[in-house]
Amino acid sequence: VAAREAARRGLRAYLVGGAVRDRLLGKKPKDLDIALEGDAEDFARAFARRLRARAVSSSEFGTAAVLLGGPKGLRRIDFSSTRGERYRHPAALPEVFPGTIGEDLARRDFSINAMAIALNGPEQGSLLDPFGGRADLEKGVVRLLHPASPSDDPTRAFRAVRIALRLGFRIDAVSRRWIGGSLSAGAFRRLSGDRLRREVLLLFQECEPASADLWLHRLELDRVVSDGFRTRRAPARGLRRVLACFPSGEPVCRDWASLEVWLESLPRDRREEAVRRLSISGERASEILSIENSLKALRAALPARVALSVAAFHCFRFSPEKIAAMGALLPAKLSSRLREARRRSRRIRLSIGGDDLKRHGIPAGPSLGRALAETWKARIDRRLSARRELAFALRRART
Ligand code: CTP
Repeated sequence: VAAREAARRGLRAYLVGGAVRDRLLGKKPKDLDIALEGDAEDFARAFARRLRARAVSSSEFGTAAVLLGGPKGLRRIDFSSTRGERYRHPAALPEVFPGTIGEDLARRDFSINAMAIALNGPEQGSLLDPFGGRADLEKGVVRLLHPASPSDDPTRAFRAVRIALRLGFRIDAVSRRWIGGSLSAGAFRRLSGDRLRREVLLLFQECEPASADLWLHRLELDRVVSDGFRTRRAPARGLRRVLACFPSGEPVCRDWASLEVWLESLPRDRREEAVRRLSISGERASEILSIENSLKALRAALPARVALSVAAFHCFRFSPEKIAAMGALLPAKLSSRLREARRRSRRIRLSIGGDDLKRHGIPAGPSLGRALAETWKARIDRRLSARRELAFALRRART
């Protein structure tokens, strides 16, 4: 439909970026990016009208997205006008100007992301690959396009780690040198805290946290967050355990939990510096800064053979991310107890409530609340089966 609409308007349309890369790798792309040699916003609105879909958000870069509902949920197509970019100084947001598809590919991050497939016109169906992206895909290499690339946009260094880990690729040696050069030249100092935080969280969200840490350390990108990482204790063991703290299906922010464990390896003053550098404030900041005290308190409150219900009670005092982070940092036995308590407390729901006890003559009041709490504890500690909840609660309320 996009190709037909483009042909009707006499525009050239191209599939670009990650979608081309993923297709060549035989993977199904998450989202589709279409670049047009023409007005993308106007085009997206017309495209959306044809499909009775919704066109949303346009930005200063003249892009628009169309959300298509399908049997497998929403699918997003991003439309952009082909453009070139100029960076006034390192890490600045780029100034953009209309350009050809060639210029559009040249402004991109890696050779494997700088390919396009023509959707119409005489080249329809052919691959545009000016930087050897296809060969790099075959070799398993992430390669930047030019020496100034990581200074123009330092987030590319973090993106390189993320995509290399995602695809099981290596980062090419020359690109690593360019990243090192931009670091020494101070380009990363101008990267804003918000952009830096976003990249670090994406890395921990998408990749195995210990490998992410290893790569950040190898490229000295961890020192962009805090110079304390130069002489830090290795946090690999804790980071490897973060993932174990996420029973499948539990909606916890694994990115934040990993970040907390990662920063825990820094001394207190360095951690404060890192929190400032990452522009983290409010509750998140106090959680990160108070992790030692929370760990100490939890260790004191929880002997190794503590009842699950007691551990579960402590779980409620902290956010799920913090529980996961602490679970990764505590001694193994205590950590698995905490995880089990959390799992069980999420699963167990009493089949009775206050009204059931009232129907059996228990008056509203503290003894009713206590009886329900004790029943819940007995269920968590496996002292009671679901069938006997009511009898147990009534006995407790009457004593
Ligand atoms: N891009 C870039 N420099 C950046 C960010 C993005 O050159 N700092 C380009 C890349 O060509 C990338 C495209 O914009 O392929 C789209 O960016 P994004 O959606 O973040 O990445 P994808 O490669 O599509 O990856 P994903 O599969 O994670 O969506």
